[in-house]
Amino acid sequence: PAPGWTTETDVVVIGSGIAGLVTALRCRPHGRVLLVTKALLDAGSTRWAQGGIAAALAPDDSPAEHLADTLTAGVGLCDEDAVQALVTEGPDAVRGLIELGTAFDRSSGGGIALTREGGHHRRRIAHAGGDATGAEISRALLAALKDSGVEVIEHALVLDLLKDATGRAAGVTLHVMGEGQPGGVGAVLARAVVLATGGLGQVFSATTNPEVSTGDGVALALRAGAAVTDLEFVQFHPTVLWLGEGARGQQPLISEAVRGEGAHLVDYAGERFMAGRHELAELAPRDIVAKAIMNRMRETGASCMLLDGRHLGAAVWETRFPTILAACRHHMIDPVTEPVPVVPAAHYASGGVRTDLHGRTSVPGLYACGEVACTGVHGANRLASNSLLEGLVFAGRIATALADDLATAPGPFQTVQGRDVQEGDAQGRGGLLDPALRGDIQQIMTSHAGVLRGAAGLAAATRELAGLADPARTGARVEPGVEAWEVTNLHTVATAIVAAAHRREETRGSHWREDFPDRSDAGWRGHLVTRLNGNAL
Ligand code: SIN
Repeated sequence: PAPGWTTETDVVVIGSGIAGLVTALRCRPHGRVLLVTKALLDAGSTRWAQGGIAAALAPDDSPAEHLADTLTAGVGLCDEDAVQALVTEGPDAVRGLIELGTAFDRSSGGGIALTREGGHHRRRIAHAGGDATGAEISRALLAALKDSGVEVIEHALVLDLLKDATGRAAGVTLHVMGEGQPGGVGAVLARAVVLATGGLGQVFSATTNPEVSTGDGVALALRAGAAVTDLEFVQFHPTVLWLGEGARGQQPLISEAVRGEGAHLVDYAGERFMAGRHELAELAPRDIVAKAIMNRMRETGASCMLLDGRHLGAAVWETRFPTILAACRHHMIDPVTEPVPVVPAAHYASGGVRTDLHGRTSVPGLYACGEVACTGVHGANRLASNSLLEGLVFAGRIATALADDLATAPGPFQTVQGRDVQEGDAQGRGGLLDPALRGDIQQIMTSHAGVLRGAAGLAAATRELAGLADPARTGARVEPGVEAWEVTNLHTVATAIVAAAHRREETRGSHWREDFPDRSDAGWRGHLVTRLNGNAL
């Protein structure tokens, strides 16, 4: 059966964070561009980014030093050519953001003010509005989008990839909600598809990610047969405001920049437990800080650790960290006068849909950019504030590639061979899951596949996730709808994370196996490639 409606463009970009917006803007000179996004244009993770965007902008810094810090944080799994592209093109890409209207904070001398975060040996993090960098970038890019000629559909959840008779990407199916737009399930036919759908933090109970980060792009790519890599490397941010046992959903982030400006991590006895543990102390790469916090919580039986920034003083809190100050005060904690309780929480997927240096995935015509992608720049642990930069730099690279690729891409699209689109049959999925299972998936992942992992827990997670999808247990047929599709995507992604985490029998970066506590370069210095029906190293 035909989709309810069909539209056509040259490039369809899915997602409206920095990766999607910059890709759309940069591709527009080369053809028609349609940008679709699941909720409102600014609902994704970019708007929530606090610390900033890393680039070697200071006179005492260099791309080579940024490269070295990125490789160290990635613990042997970064692809050096991808990092080279990131750090050498980064400074100009940030200047390009300024030309597009982004107002970064300035130092008293008028230059871009730069701070430090974990794993950086130099001040190289540009920020805006103190700690509202993502919001300012998002504002500037959305303003640029207005007169760009890029078409936009909001409230549109991407479902599946459409392919032509040769197996090349030929568009996507969407479920569109809301008034004033074609509603229900439809198809966008396109000569190229760019996934910029962001992250998957909602797979866990507590995360810094917004509600919309449900791994839709990774799930789509897996269903489309694309190679996905490094899924086991889910990064836990060390310092998220502790809201009590059992806190669920999006949690307030306390930026690494707070430590960059001098705040200390202490336990309840007041001991600075990072001092002496790493040459950078509180500014060690974030996997090391997150593990140290978890270890000290276990040793002392505490539910959280403390971030002490009282010595920064009220003026610094008010001017540099107004967002964080307001969030803490909203929860009755005043960082000016008391230490802030913090715990690690799921923050960033270092892996994703595997791409080359120009964002091309293993499926011709399908590109990926930003958190959904695995370009190879993050390895086993992303360096702080490299994520906005990655989205920015690789969006430009995709636009460059598309300028050539579109010249040879086929069209029009009479021979679309995608799976049937009809209400009631979620494009040939094995079965949609009940939206009520969202909490069960998050609980399984948090219990067995969170910061600390082991074979027994991961085996239990595999069993329990399979049980949730067992048709014998799921009973009544689930009505198709956004919540059901999101939960089905969360389940697909959770299962893939668990498979990769189970397979990697070592501890490296943000993948911490209690039963294999050491890094094993002999056995595991390589990427795990996940496909829907199995894994291969
Ligand atoms: C932060 O501000 O601490 C987050 C920065 C990042 O995730 O790169």
